[in-house]
Amino acid sequence: MVRHVDGDTAAIWVETARAGEVAVRLPGRDGQAVWRAPTFCVHGHHYALVEVTGLRPGERTAYDVLVDDQVVWPAEDDPFPPPALATSPPEGPLRLAFGSCRTSVPHDAVHHLTHGVDALRTYGLALSAEEPGPLGVAPDLLLLLGDQVYADSTSEAMQDFIASRRRLDEGAGEELADFEEYAHLYRLAWSEPALRWLFSWLPSLMIFDDHDIRDDWNTSLAWRAEMERTSWWHGRVVAGLGSYWVYQHLGNLSVAARAHDPLWTELQRRRRARPGVEVDLTDAVDDFAARADREPLSYRWSYTHPLGGSRLVVVDSRAARQLDPARRAMLDASEMAWLDQQLTGDVEHLVVATSLPYLLPPGIHHLEAWNEAVVAGAWGAWWRRPGEWLRQAFDLEHWAAFHASFGRVAGMVTEVAEGRRGSAPASVLFLSGDVHHSYVTEVDRPGVSRVLQLVCSPIRNPMPRVLRAVFAVFAHGVARPVGAVLARSAKVPAPPLRWHGVAGPWFDNNIAVLDIEGEDLRTVWLAGRVVPGLSDDEPELSVVADVELDLPPVGAAQGPAVAHVHPEVGARRWIRRAVPLGATALVVAGMLWHRSRR
Ligand SMILES: [Fe+2]
Repeated sequence: MVRHVDGDTAAIWVETARAGEVAVRLPGRDGQAVWRAPTFCVHGHHYALVEVTGLRPGERTAYDVLVDDQVVWPAEDDPFPPPALATSPPEGPLRLAFGSCRTSVPHDAVHHLTHGVDALRTYGLALSAEEPGPLGVAPDLLLLLGDQVYADSTSEAMQDFIASRRRLDEGAGEELADFEEYAHLYRLAWSEPALRWLFSWLPSLMIFDDHDIRDDWNTSLAWRAEMERTSWWHGRVVAGLGSYWVYQHLGNLSVAARAHDPLWTELQRRRRARPGVEVDLTDAVDDFAARADREPLSYRWSYTHPLGGSRLVVVDSRAARQLDPARRAMLDASEMAWLDQQLTGDVEHLVVATSLPYLLPPGIHHLEAWNEAVVAGAWGAWWRRPGEWLRQAFDLEHWAAFHASFGRVAGMVTEVAEGRRGSAPASVLFLSGDVHHSYVTEVDRPGVSRVLQLVCSPIRNPMPRVLRAVFAVFAHGVARPVGAVLARSAKVPAPPLRWHGVAGPWFDNNIAVLDIEGEDLRTVWLAGRVVPGLSDDEPELSVVADVELDLPPVGAAQGPAVAHVHPEVGARRWIRRAVPLGATALVVAGMLWHRSRR
């Protein structure tokens, strides 16, 4: 997998079948430049991260991977184009593919019915055929925004593996229990040939969300206490965070950031102590993960990444939470102070990635803020328990459900947008996933910067069809007045920002591609479509939505937001669908009532 890439370095991450030396070779370079790294071992699995340095900005170079001097990638009979390392362009246009929530099940007709077509795999197939969709060019970076793997809701293949090791009616049951099972889960998720090619060709960055560990991870102190009462939770969270560091996080880091990472430095220390012997890092990874869970202040999973003239700030909105009801916060004090330092101007665009949407549909925002206040006792002690039940049952756990944190970030963003933290960027963009539908919202704020929320979810885990119309009408319609009244009744202060829907919602499995070209923004949401007459596992790319967001020149007075949405779909379409659905339900209910009277 090609992971962190900047102007002159690239990180190549591999898992190997055995201990050995991994080399990355650039055959096109003079003298066949080679970079090497020995494998290290965690719980019997072997990994290497090769840091390729001395590259030139904006170059694309073919590479191959060798283990103990044998070429292992690309495979001899690989039908895909040769893998390539593409360093970041120094400036200019930048395209960032992003999305979240991907279950990994087979790509056949049965699973297309239950899980839809995999948008990321379809995009990989299209890119490998040099058909990149409406933008006409391939992205520079893939940003996966959470639920990359589902450790709680497992596929048949995963359950078969678990059953080969232990009983499914004990302990963690059909959920994951240890590192060995996580290693298998990642293998199932990322070994499919088209995806494997995509990951070897397109640099990727990642951040976790709840399902990488467990549904509702850290939603509240009550949730955490309930988990800690089980026999299996400790092992699960240690395996989840340890494997996350190995499979996802290590590759997020630049060469400089990795040099300061405590586990990476421990690996180097052990290598120096016993040269030529593969380091077993198992104990250090387990200890590190246990501490990261017990003492969130001990490690920061958030990170930043330069995007040409813009900046990407990737925020951990799960592990750094403060759950004590008296000081409840999405980010603990240290993490919030770090974010405060990162949210500054003097960039073209400030892009903030948070797995959980910062701006929900306004009605849902009010409901989550109301729920937080009710659990804290705003409606009296009796309502606390049903409030906690509602929170967990309906995932009322986004930024809105940490209202004080929402306010702190709103203050920072407002200062950035008003040019009080350096010159104002053209936009502040929140990129998120998690909510199983996609949309664009924008803050109603006449200021220098536009402030937008772009959501892309799911890549492959769609909301059931029967719920979509109901959800669209509720979340993007009636929830607003209902939620506002409820929030007022619980004395929740009005949010410091006002915002409105620009486009969506869309419920398709999809992957979004944000195109930043100077001050202009365009985002396309792409899905996979099975083509009649072709095999189910050869879907083609289709456009869910193509949204152009016209930005005024920096410094100019901002007029009303302009968005060109192609095709014109969204809540109205779902309302149109809800009407016949409601009418059918009424007719069926009437017939059943009539039968019961006979
Ligand atoms: Fe999630």
